[in-house]
Amino acid sequence: MRTEWRWFLRAIDILSINRNLFSFFQYKISAISINITKREVAQGKTMGLFSFLTQEIAIDLGTANTLIIMNDKVVVDEPSIVAKDIQTGKVVAIGKRAQQMHGKTHKLIETVRPLRDGVIADFQAAEQMIRGMIKMIGTGRSLFNPSLRMVICIPSGITEVEKRAVRDSAEHAGAKEVYLIHEPMAAAIGIGIDVEEPMGNMIIDIGGGTSEIAVIALGGIVCDKSIRVAGDDFTKDIEEYMRRQHNILVGERTAEEIKINVGAALPELDNAPDDWAVQGRDLMTGIPKEIIISYTEVAHALDKTISKIEEAILSALEMTPPELSADIYKTGIYLAGGGSMLRGLDKRISLKTKLPVHIAEDPLRAVARGTSIALKNINRFQFLIRD
Ligand SMILES: Nc1ncnc2c1ncn2[C@@H]1O[C@H](COP(=O)(O)OP(=O)(O)OP(=O)(O)O)[C@@H](O)[C@H]1O
Ligand SMILES: [Mg+2]
Repeated sequence: MRTEWRWFLRAIDILSINRNLFSFFQYKISAISINITKREVAQGKTMGLFSFLTQEIAIDLGTANTLIIMNDKVVVDEPSIVAKDIQTGKVVAIGKRAQQMHGKTHKLIETVRPLRDGVIADFQAAEQMIRGMIKMIGTGRSLFNPSLRMVICIPSGITEVEKRAVRDSAEHAGAKEVYLIHEPMAAAIGIGIDVEEPMGNMIIDIGGGTSEIAVIALGGIVCDKSIRVAGDDFTKDIEEYMRRQHNILVGERTAEEIKINVGAALPELDNAPDDWAVQGRDLMTGIPKEIIISYTEVAHALDKTISKIEEAILSALEMTPPELSADIYKTGIYLAGGGSMLRGLDKRISLKTKLPVHIAEDPLRAVARGTSIALKNINRFQFLIRD
């Protein structure tokens, strides 16, 4: 009987020690998590112990390309395009694979570009694309389903309804917290400009669907001009020019290839590219044919569209308060976005405005990089749109 009592008392002892230990650890864990949730989670410094609880991603949802950055790494960089089975509506391919199918589909498959002019044009396809691209990150976690926190960039000229569409499609794709940031602001941060300084900077983001011109100072956009004319319009101009001038029909992908290989904003360049062979369908005979095209011709074809962007830049400069104009005179204009890579565009803008023009180091990724930095500073950057 005595031994049984002893065992019984020991068991109680062990249990209470364990309980104390348990509550001690519980206390420690909650203390750590309080500390982390308050400060570091918001600043994106939760790598390690609790990183499995929240997945934080920055998305540059662009008309032409979508980029996702996680833990400072570009984990997705794909064309914004979805291929769908027409009968079932199911997604067949996303990104590069879908782009390869673009213009080459049969009647059971269609390729959709969910964004037009920088905003969501096909809500369902946009949601499928975001969902598919998040899957591409391939975190491979099955045990925990981390809650998703996203910062997504939006054009500065976006309407409330269009903004809602971005937020809704992100939420449908699984985001628990969604923050939005204006593209020129993200571009400025991505370029490395200190946007909170009392110093004016002009940023121009020429993407696929929109050109955004903004003057930024003290962590806010002072004035901006957003036009729905950008890189994709250059591509359309080339398609049109080839048809009109050379009687040759070329697809969107071929026209884009021409733009990248022999595209130019000025008819005379210092580093002129070689002429380029273009294949397409002869408009008269219907037979495939090849013609050779030079950058001077392309510069001529793009002239009108580039003038529209120049006009928008001039009108943004006109709107700028004089103190900030003085700053811009010193700092010049910064260019970002894939469209800014057109040969001679920086020189042409510089000739028009008589201001120095700098192209971002990595124009296609500047906005995404800025969005990722914003993600790490969610609590600090007041210009993030939360509601
Ligand atoms: N080397 C190049 N020369 C000229 N244009 C280029 C070059 N490389 C890419 N582009 C163009 O840049 C555009 C894509 O740029 P970007 O990825 O910045 O756009 P986006 O962010 O998807 O669009 P948006 O911001 O308007 O929604 C496309 O029109 C593409 O053809
Ligand atoms: Mg963009």
